[in-house]
Amino acid sequence: MSHLFRVGVIGAGRVGAVLAAGLRAAGHPVVAAAGESDASRRRAAELLPGVPLRKPSDVAREAELLLLTVPDDMLPNVVKVLADSGALHAGQVVAHTSGRHGLAVLAPAAAVGARVIALHPAMTFTGTSVDLERLHGCVFGLTAGADERAIAEGLVADLGGRVTWVPEEMRTLYHAGLAHGANHLVTLVSEAMGLLGAAGVDDPAGTLRPLLDAALDNALAHGDAALTGPIVRGDVQTVAAHLKDISANAPDTVPSYVAMAWATLDRAVTDGRLLPIRAQAIAGVLSAYGDRRVLSPRVESA
Ligand SMILES: NC(=O)c1ccc[n+]([C@@H]2O[C@H](COP(=O)([O-])OP(=O)(O)OC[C@H]3O[C@@H](n4cnc5c(N)ncnc54)[C@H](OP(=O)(O)O)[C@@H]3O)[C@@H](O)[C@H]2O)c1
Repeated sequence: MSHLFRVGVIGAGRVGAVLAAGLRAAGHPVVAAAGESDASRRRAAELLPGVPLRKPSDVAREAELLLLTVPDDMLPNVVKVLADSGALHAGQVVAHTSGRHGLAVLAPAAAVGARVIALHPAMTFTGTSVDLERLHGCVFGLTAGADERAIAEGLVADLGGRVTWVPEEMRTLYHAGLAHGANHLVTLVSEAMGLLGAAGVDDPAGTLRPLLDAALDNALAHGDAALTGPIVRGDVQTVAAHLKDISANAPDTVPSYVAMAWATLDRAVTDGRLLPIRAQAIAGVLSAYGDRRVLSPRVESA
């Protein structure tokens, strides 16, 4: 158990309400929250019962640990306004939960002597109590100065999470990796369900689930070596047939299928599992459906 902080949260969004509830469950008193929309008020009532809603500057004044859980693009302005108004104070811990931002965005808080931390849960939040369970084992991407590292680690431990340290200059790349994996996966799965639905399959989600569970497990364990399917087998006619029928039935899905096929092709060759000469045949098919992109030198030299 780390030191018990008087916690304030600006605002009571999907992440703010859940993290504050998690810290409260670990013994930290949550003294105030900010949030004006109906959604934020509802989340605060459900996840932080009894916690008063105040304006942001009042929340900041009352808090020993201030969580800034506002949209990424709002964060610079929120920090500046709080610092300019004198609502932040020396020794106070100020943490945000943005993946993209590091400590630089908290410079106005650091300038008044606050102890700043970037504390990003690598998780997708619904803003309901369901998320509380997901904090256990969730990885937090942390950036902090040497003097704040123990505080940050203590907070993550209180939330039941695990720590990964992210250098300040790598925050954006770290966040891009998470977004590419998790957000684009949602698009990919939704498109896959659409194709199965168009094919008349009764239960697209139930049909995909065992396959996708296995593919995800294998990919996380083995990376590119987990790849199966027509591209790595060099089944050029199957890829051509896919594209013909996707074009006819779900043309919106063609660009992402082609983009992912190019990337898959490249990685299968680089991995040494697909001969460049066979990759060239598939590249010929893909080229008919979009701009030809540059393949790795191994494919080009075939
Ligand atoms: N959602 C996720 O899965 C997730 C995961 C990891 C990290 N994050 C990060 O967590 C942060 C919050 O994301 P979120 O998804 O929780 O956002 P959200 O659900 O949209 O909630 C944003 C909160 O900030 C408040 N707010 C907006 N603009 C404000 C301003 N100018 N001043 C004061 N409060 C303001 C909102 O209040 P009103 O409702 O009254 O407008 C709301 O309570 C972001 O940095 C995001 O990158 C999100």
